[in-house]
Amino acid sequence: MTGRSAKKPTADASDWRGSFPALHQEINGHPLVYLDSAASSQQPAAVIAAVQTYQECSHANVHRGVHTLSHRATEAYESARDRIADFINASNRTEIVFTSGTTDSINLVAQSFCRPTLKPGDRIVISHLEHHSNIVPWQMLCEQTGAELVVASIDESGQVDVSEITDLLDERVKLFALAHVSNALGTVLPVKEIIGIAKTRGIPVLLDGAQAVPHLPVDVQDLDCDFYTFSGHKMFGPTGTGVLFGRESLLEAMPPYQGGGDMILEVSFEGTTYNDLPYKFEAGTPNIAGFVGLGAAVKYLQCIGMQRICQHEKELLEYMTMQLSEIQDIRLIGTAANKASVQSFMLADIHPHDVGTILDHQGVAIRTGHHCAMPVMEYFGIPGTARASLALYNTRDDVDALVAALHAAHKIFS
Ligand code: ALA
Repeated sequence: MTGRSAKKPTADASDWRGSFPALHQEINGHPLVYLDSAASSQQPAAVIAAVQTYQECSHANVHRGVHTLSHRATEAYESARDRIADFINASNRTEIVFTSGTTDSINLVAQSFCRPTLKPGDRIVISHLEHHSNIVPWQMLCEQTGAELVVASIDESGQVDVSEITDLLDERVKLFALAHVSNALGTVLPVKEIIGIAKTRGIPVLLDGAQAVPHLPVDVQDLDCDFYTFSGHKMFGPTGTGVLFGRESLLEAMPPYQGGGDMILEVSFEGTTYNDLPYKFEAGTPNIAGFVGLGAAVKYLQCIGMQRICQHEKELLEYMTMQLSEIQDIRLIGTAANKASVQSFMLADIHPHDVGTILDHQGVAIRTGHHCAMPVMEYFGIPGTARASLALYNTRDDVDALVAALHAAHKIFS
């Protein structure tokens, strides 16, 4: 493994970069340039150490044991919940449900909040730019209940139309589920404005925040959303961890999603009394080590400050967009005015997978394909894109390496 020099660091990213061991290695004889954080971000040493220390010194099952290790495990697991509640400004820790990821969180809302009351004639509204995890659970729900899934359109820049959404949000709509930031296009949606409109009509709103939480300050009380979902592995934490924020009054009224251990107060063959929030939704032994790591990831983000991260990434995205747009035969996909962290593109008529492979030979990691957003690709009439996605640890050097590798790719194919 070798260190990588950052000649032109933006803000303090070169210092932040030093905290991420995985970034300091060579891939195919080149320093790694990691531009695939929208798929999964790298973990700082503090997260890796927190998980290891937990495994070495404190591991046991949570909420059940009277012995010291079980107390330690419970304390570590529950303090992660407190930290996350503080991080997104939930009004109560009971509003933070631990799940396996955004997908799990959205399925929980579909099956527990919507399914019991949804009927033919009712509607769920989403937008055209959603990730499959904010499409398929609603399609399944509509098949189960006879309700209708309605899709708000996007424009060529990759933005939604607030006036169209205003028209769609009528009395038939039982939930509006929307990305906060698009994973394929990087669009930051005007969620506050949309939530304001939905509220005046009494329509609950779920935000898929998987691509927002690592990049923007998120305050669920300020947003006034009803549900907010995100994944640990996109915010510098371990895989298999996720969060559902739910407004307490709604969570209270919802039936459990899964039955099993830990989600009960009392069980007999005559019936079961369910546990209090949030445990009613956390059946079975959870990913304890994972949430300890997620708590450490949130602490890391809080130490830097989301406002600083947001500013750094904003400047870097502007720089990347400008540099990419000067490459011959490039087509940028996703050009909305308000964006975060992501730029998708097509290079000449080279298949995105070929672009990704050539870049990998030069140590540059990007994602290629449909990015779990096939309707977006269909809208733009393409099979997929190449996508460079930024995180707090990226610098202008990374962008320069990406651009140089793309020039090389263009040369090979022309
Ligand atoms: N949802 C992830 C992405 O956008 C996997 O790459």
